[in-house]
Amino acid sequence: MHNVVISGTGLYTPANSISNEELVQSFNTYVAQFNADNADAIARGEVEALTESSAAFIEKASGIKSRFVMDKEGILDPQRMAPRLPERSNDEWSVLCQMAIGAAEQALQRAGKTAADIDGVIVACSNLQRAYPAIAIEVQEALGIQGFGFDMNVACSSATFGIQTAANSIQLGHARAILMVNPEVCTGHLNFRDRDSHFIFGDAATAVIIERADLATSKYQFDIVSTKLLTKFSNNIRNNFGFLNRAAEEGIGAKDKLFVQEGRKVFKEVCPMVAELIGEHLQENQLNVSDVKRFWLHQANLSMNHLIVKKLLGRDATEQEAPVILDTYANTSSAGSVISFHKNQDDLPAGSLAVLSSFGAGYSIGSVILRKR
Ligand SMILES: CC(C)(COP(=O)(O)OP(=O)(O)OC[C@H]1O[C@@H](n2cnc3c(N)ncnc32)[C@H](O)[C@@H]1OP(=O)(O)O)[C@@H](O)C(=O)NCCC(=O)NCCS
Repeated sequence: MHNVVISGTGLYTPANSISNEELVQSFNTYVAQFNADNADAIARGEVEALTESSAAFIEKASGIKSRFVMDKEGILDPQRMAPRLPERSNDEWSVLCQMAIGAAEQALQRAGKTAADIDGVIVACSNLQRAYPAIAIEVQEALGIQGFGFDMNVACSSATFGIQTAANSIQLGHARAILMVNPEVCTGHLNFRDRDSHFIFGDAATAVIIERADLATSKYQFDIVSTKLLTKFSNNIRNNFGFLNRAAEEGIGAKDKLFVQEGRKVFKEVCPMVAELIGEHLQENQLNVSDVKRFWLHQANLSMNHLIVKKLLGRDATEQEAPVILDTYANTSSAGSVISFHKNQDDLPAGSLAVLSSFGAGYSIGSVILRKR
């Protein structure tokens, strides 16, 4: 069995960002138009009037101030309220592939590796833009990587599950190094007409190089001490979009064909599960929570993260201990915890213990214990 390290991370951030104020202005224009168009039916009690959104509520309830997006214009157009990402020919790299390349190139550079050093590509994300061929095989082709590639989806936990999958392959000698990427166009599955959730998501891609410790040369290395995964079925975060939709015409265009959630229930049920899993994971490895210098947590809700770390530490965490990126990125699904990791690792002294943890739909929870080399 080989020892395994993470030797480089990368981030692709879209060029455009939308503030809460811009998003709310578009939403409220839509609400005013809907209520005007349906004024008679609303007066007769046949249609329910829509209620305005509020930037102050969004920041207070979630901690989100803005989000990066692949297309700003389409989302903010009150007549459209969805990103516009034109079809590409089969001769062009797909949108997900393009984002993955951006993140992967930086991860390769930080790891000091070239395509020739990589034996496999895993694309792990919440939303794959087509059924097949796998996006990972396209990324392989775009970067000139030999070996194998496959896609996997564990919603917001895709990255930690992807890291365990890659680490297992490397431990067993199936690959020297694997590129694991998380391209997330979360705005593609977000219902921008839903007041309860229109502010939640943003777009980004992250990449992680996982490789054999004895081959790693970069100065950004973390030992993968241990990984622990957990899933438990829940309908509280769900998206019923899929290839069988055309076989059930009655459901086409219904709200459940985009992201839907019971936010309060998710908050209440997932926080204790995450704290318990991380606590158990550290204990199983004879490690103390108080020795963990950094928690790179999934970035969905600021209060959720505060609560999880407080449950673990028995006190509030400092900004350094549990770095926040959701204020400017919003929830980028599987990319979130890796963005926090990527942006907040270089200051850690050698030997520092850290935890990368994701949580989301499924429910699915992942914990990766890392030690800076
Ligand atoms: C989604 C979330 C931010 C909502 O925050 P919340 O405090 O639970 O808010 P609620 O939905 O209970 O709504 C509270 C109030 O704000 C109102 N509200 C909801 N959306 C609003 C908006 N956009 N603008 C203004 N008010 C709003 C509600 O109508 C409700 O009003 P009421 O108290 O008069 O009934 C929060 O539940 C959350 O982040 N949960 C975890 C979700 C998560 O991690 N999901 C994983 C996704 S991968």
